[in-house]
Amino acid sequence: MDPQQHARVDELTRDPYPLYARARRAKGLTYVPEFGAWLVARDADVREVLRRPDVFSSANAVRGGVRPSAAALAVLADGDGGSPRGRVVVTSDGLAHQRLRAPLVRGLGPARVAAALPYAAERAEALVEAFADDGRVELMEAYAMRLPGQVVGHVLGFDPADVPLVVRAGHRTEALLSRHLSEEEQVAAAHDMVALKRLLDGYVRDRYAAPRDDLCSELVTSLVQPDDAEEGEAGLLTLAQRTELVAHLNNFLLAGHLTTTALIGTAFLHLLSHPDQWRMVCADPERMIPAAIEETARFDTALQAFRRVTTRPATLAGTELPAGAELLVAFGAAGRDGARYPRPDVFDITRPAAARHLAFGLGAHACPGAQLAREQVRLTLELFIRRFPGLRIAEDGPPVAMRPTLIHRAPEALHLTW
Ligand code: HEM
Repeated sequence: MDPQQHARVDELTRDPYPLYARARRAKGLTYVPEFGAWLVARDADVREVLRRPDVFSSANAVRGGVRPSAAALAVLADGDGGSPRGRVVVTSDGLAHQRLRAPLVRGLGPARVAAALPYAAERAEALVEAFADDGRVELMEAYAMRLPGQVVGHVLGFDPADVPLVVRAGHRTEALLSRHLSEEEQVAAAHDMVALKRLLDGYVRDRYAAPRDDLCSELVTSLVQPDDAEEGEAGLLTLAQRTELVAHLNNFLLAGHLTTTALIGTAFLHLLSHPDQWRMVCADPERMIPAAIEETARFDTALQAFRRVTTRPATLAGTELPAGAELLVAFGAAGRDGARYPRPDVFDITRPAAARHLAFGLGAHACPGAQLAREQVRLTLELFIRRFPGLRIAEDGPPVAMRPTLIHRAPEALHLTW
């Protein structure tokens, strides 16, 4: 991609809503050259794609728009030890997908989420304590980028000391695959990604040898078939098994913390930009916090779009697609579809049907972590309402800019005061 194309993609991703609106109005699907894909923007069309995984494969779901530089790729290849790339839950289909997904659904069930909440609440209090006396905070750096990594690390059973690398490498992975970075930044990102893979490989081996009561152990033990293990040296995982498990954990981490960070950021951004609605939430948190979370997810979701590729010729919204056609399936565009939501571009936490949004997907790949994400946003809003009466966006802060990404849409920074 040349610098001009990069600038255009940046512009489109910082505010994709005008493009979505045009695509929803157009007859058939709209091809967007900047994304190299057909944009699926109407709620009904997004639902149709998600309900037909046999026709619309997830093989390319997270394909980034940017190819890293040769130097960064060399660092990454070195870190892989030349092994093949592992398949992950979000990019697999059919039976292979079900095998990878089943332990995640079990591991993120209501009991596991409930068990994680006291830890999440305690970490949230500790993060807030660190800036409570300052009278102001940059929310993204001081809080939103920290809590979800700590919580997902805890659910997996990771040492809290390893979480900063997990979070940093996650952000840098996203940046490397979707943004225009300098050579130096790309190589630094690749080194962090390799360090994270080595860390995860250590956890995989450790939990295989001595399983504990944590999700990491459950993933490792349930994904290694009994007869697979015999292929390796007695009692050891093969390189291929380790590669698959590391890729799986890596994907799980990216899905688990960056998205939740983003939703915490956008929830505060939109609620505090509408002071009347913030006052409603403060007056009746029990009823209005859940409504505020669903409306934020509908109005400005974290995961705006993932890709699909057709497995055979297909017709969608009247557009004929050959086999191998790439689609950009925009959950974020579906949330603004006037055919489903009256006044779709208005943020309104009192709207009755917000919860029917597609922000957490639908069907075979629907988000297994939705409840964990919602609970973190809930306890965060409760805590800030309790601790900071008078919370507002700092008037002397810089204007809020959104990050140029479709996969973790959030404010770059959000300066708050109270
Ligand atoms: C605000 C937060 C979140 C949002 C908006 C979100 C959104 C989504 C969406 C839209 C999908 C479907 C992707 C597709 O159809 O291709 C998805 C899948 C997934 N999410 Fe989330 N998610 C969030 C939080 C989480 C959390 C906290 C976790 C785990 C701790 C998680 C784990 C996953 C996984 C593993 C998948 C892949 C499932 C599969 O392919 O079967 N997500 N998420």
